[in-house]
Amino acid sequence: MLVFGGTGDLALHKLLPALYHLHREGRLHPQMRILALARNTLDRDGFRALAERRCRAQVARADFTAEAWRGFSERLDYFAMDVSQSADFGRLARYLGPDPGCGRVYYLATAPDLFEDIAAHLSIARMATPQSRIVLEKPIGHSLDSARAINAAIGKVFDESQVFRIDHYLGKETVQNLMALRFANGLFEPIWRAGHVDHVQISVCETLGVENRGAYYDRSGAMRDMVQNHLLQLLCLVAMEAPVRFDAEAVRNEKVKILEALKPVSGQDVRDKTVRGQYSAGKIGGQEVPAYYFEKNVDNDSDTETFVAVQAEIDNWRWAGVPFYLRTGKRLARKYSEIVIQFKPVPHRLFADGEANRLLIRLQPEERISLQLMAKSPGKGMNLEPVELDLNLAKAFSHQRRWDAYERLLLDVIEGDSTLFMRRDEVEAAWRWVDPILEGWHEHYQSPRPYPAGSTGPEQAHSLLEPHGRAWHD
Ligand code: BG6
Repeated sequence: MLVFGGTGDLALHKLLPALYHLHREGRLHPQMRILALARNTLDRDGFRALAERRCRAQVARADFTAEAWRGFSERLDYFAMDVSQSADFGRLARYLGPDPGCGRVYYLATAPDLFEDIAAHLSIARMATPQSRIVLEKPIGHSLDSARAINAAIGKVFDESQVFRIDHYLGKETVQNLMALRFANGLFEPIWRAGHVDHVQISVCETLGVENRGAYYDRSGAMRDMVQNHLLQLLCLVAMEAPVRFDAEAVRNEKVKILEALKPVSGQDVRDKTVRGQYSAGKIGGQEVPAYYFEKNVDNDSDTETFVAVQAEIDNWRWAGVPFYLRTGKRLARKYSEIVIQFKPVPHRLFADGEANRLLIRLQPEERISLQLMAKSPGKGMNLEPVELDLNLAKAFSHQRRWDAYERLLLDVIEGDSTLFMRRDEVEAAWRWVDPILEGWHEHYQSPRPYPAGSTGPEQAHSLLEPHGRAWHD
């Protein structure tokens, strides 16, 4: 496995710890080697020391053993190169020697503007063989046109079956559990539709700011960084029809149908159906944090959004008229990701109290699925209260270590299973829905609404739901 961007945060924080776990559990082929590639002038030992420091900080203390690390670090190597230089790929090819024939994985943990160059240079250096696989980290481009250009450039060198576009949300256990919940249980299917569902909420709230990624983030914003990929992927899994088989083509065919059925939000619609926000100074966990525009590598008059709320609608038979409210933001009061399926109230009320049923799928921090039902509280009279039917997944499987999303996804790449990866048409369909919103913001000068760090986002986010008698589940 060759990791381009091998000294970056993603490689050191996520990929190497995930590979370490896979090694420790004996899931990697004994001869598999991991070669990190970056511009820094490091040698193999220097890289191994850096990797050890970063992995030690990421991996739970009990899981990090000197013996396992020794074995893992023997797999690690480093090669300094500049990916914009074709000659460096020649040097790389010579360094690697003949392709062993079992296939190489090229993991592009770099900015997307380097994807095209890397693919072309791999081709010129004859390093792209029918056994190779290429992994692309999101975001794939920053608009439909740029995504198409990247996909076309990659497509010239690699067949679609060799391309793995990663969205780490699809590797999260509860996200896959959503498919198990829907398609391995008959219970919900009859009511999983307009007629029974009032609306759906998908929230991915973070307490983190932009950390060291100001330069990237300021050009992206929450819409491109989170909604175009993670939130739309979650929406697809909630809304899609049952695939005919659990395989890459069947699952992705159903997801694409949902993306294509998304009702466009464009022009003036952006005023009623979207809210942009940007954090101002505030407190997170009691600590003062600066406003977004004072973050490192962010423009002082930046109008990039760090918060988005959107009302999406799916124009198909199952979901006609059911709003899907999507919301994500940085520097919010709490870190949690959840999906709420809010059912309609009972058709005829017998009791004074009563709330409609709600299914809550919590992806993080805890993995939980809970169904809110109404029950009678003990004693005289008929006083009702909501109670939770709770499925605590971490507890139910407490004897098993919880895998990080990247462990599952890296193993899938190695085994060649692309079910949990985005297909080319899927990425482009997502951009096709996102682009008009970005244009609408631009045309109507919708500047982001400020919200204090540590709050639940801009006030205006509530006005998306309130006129319909709804509220965010906070
Ligand atoms: C990444 C985004 O894809 O997902 C980050 O680029 C974000 O901005 C991260 O912080 C959130 O992932 P998770 O797994 O921590 O919810």
